[in-house]
Amino acid sequence: MSGRMTALVTGANGELGHALIARLVEEGSRDVIAIDLREPDASIASKCAQVIVGDVTQRTTFEQVNPSARVDSVFHLAALLSTASEKNPERAQSVNVDGLIQALTFAMAHSARVDRRVKVLFPSSIAAYGVASLEAKSALGAANETQASEPTTMYGLNKRYGEQLGCYFSERYRQLSTEANPPGVDFRSIRYPGIISAFTLPTGGTSDYLPEYLHAAAQGKPYACFVRGDTRVPFMAMPDAVRALLMLEKAAPETLTQRVYNVTACNPTPVEFSKLLQKALPPAALSFDVSAARQRIVDSWPEQLDDQAARKDWGWAPTMGLDEMVNEYLLPNVVARYAR
Ligand code: SER
Repeated sequence: MSGRMTALVTGANGELGHALIARLVEEGSRDVIAIDLREPDASIASKCAQVIVGDVTQRTTFEQVNPSARVDSVFHLAALLSTASEKNPERAQSVNVDGLIQALTFAMAHSARVDRRVKVLFPSSIAAYGVASLEAKSALGAANETQASEPTTMYGLNKRYGEQLGCYFSERYRQLSTEANPPGVDFRSIRYPGIISAFTLPTGGTSDYLPEYLHAAAQGKPYACFVRGDTRVPFMAMPDAVRALLMLEKAAPETLTQRVYNVTACNPTPVEFSKLLQKALPPAALSFDVSAARQRIVDSWPEQLDDQAARKDWGWAPTMGLDEMVNEYLLPNVVARYAR
């Protein structure tokens, strides 16, 4: 292990993990230590200074971090997404909440070792919102970070609590500690919209319908969408999701007026998205086989996010709106992927 700083990434094998680790390695300024429950893909493992196969809910997993590593940021990405969490709330609580407290506890202890605050970056979600009806959703429009903050799903509850837990660890925990105070944790969180990658597919989410449709259409396969064609929730492309996380990580502490920030890029319905795809792909049938349970989840999420605070505090703006996302990022890459 070199004398360089290290980024610790949990959930390394997930969609965001893959994209973030690739970006961190491209940046080249830090070593990367990866944690995942499963042996990470060779593409990830080969890029990392250390790979830990272990459960984030266990302290012993974090204890395996190379003792000479100097971790400046923990990217705590390990999570069960919203549909998977509804199916198994107990496991959701364990991964999404117990996992976070282990990450925060590690960061707190590690801050004493490196004698500086350790950042913990936590992806939160549109699931942290809860709107009561489609009328309320339409009346709300773009939600800022303080509106409609009563989530209706297990995942949303976990994320909402996670945001608050991180703030507590950053602001208050040390005041009550009787032991010598370590430098502490600097928690920063992004409320993501649905994320779409041209290279990977999500598992267990409720915004999975757009990426699933994209990857099916690119292979000329029909797709039965599990929500209504007029369902509107926010989305962004994976490169912008990674960019946002790294921008927030690098922002000077004095520029941040809050610890939880919305980011967004566009909000197409499945029908609008399919019209864009069909300009470039052979017509792939889009049909609807609506799951009432999953529809209820997306209907409880706002149709758009207000990301003014991120724009103002740390200069956030997406590089891709809907047209750029589809025509310049998704289509060329997904077509090339399945042509191989
Ligand atoms: N993509 C997530 C999900 O569908 C929402 O943050 O669960």
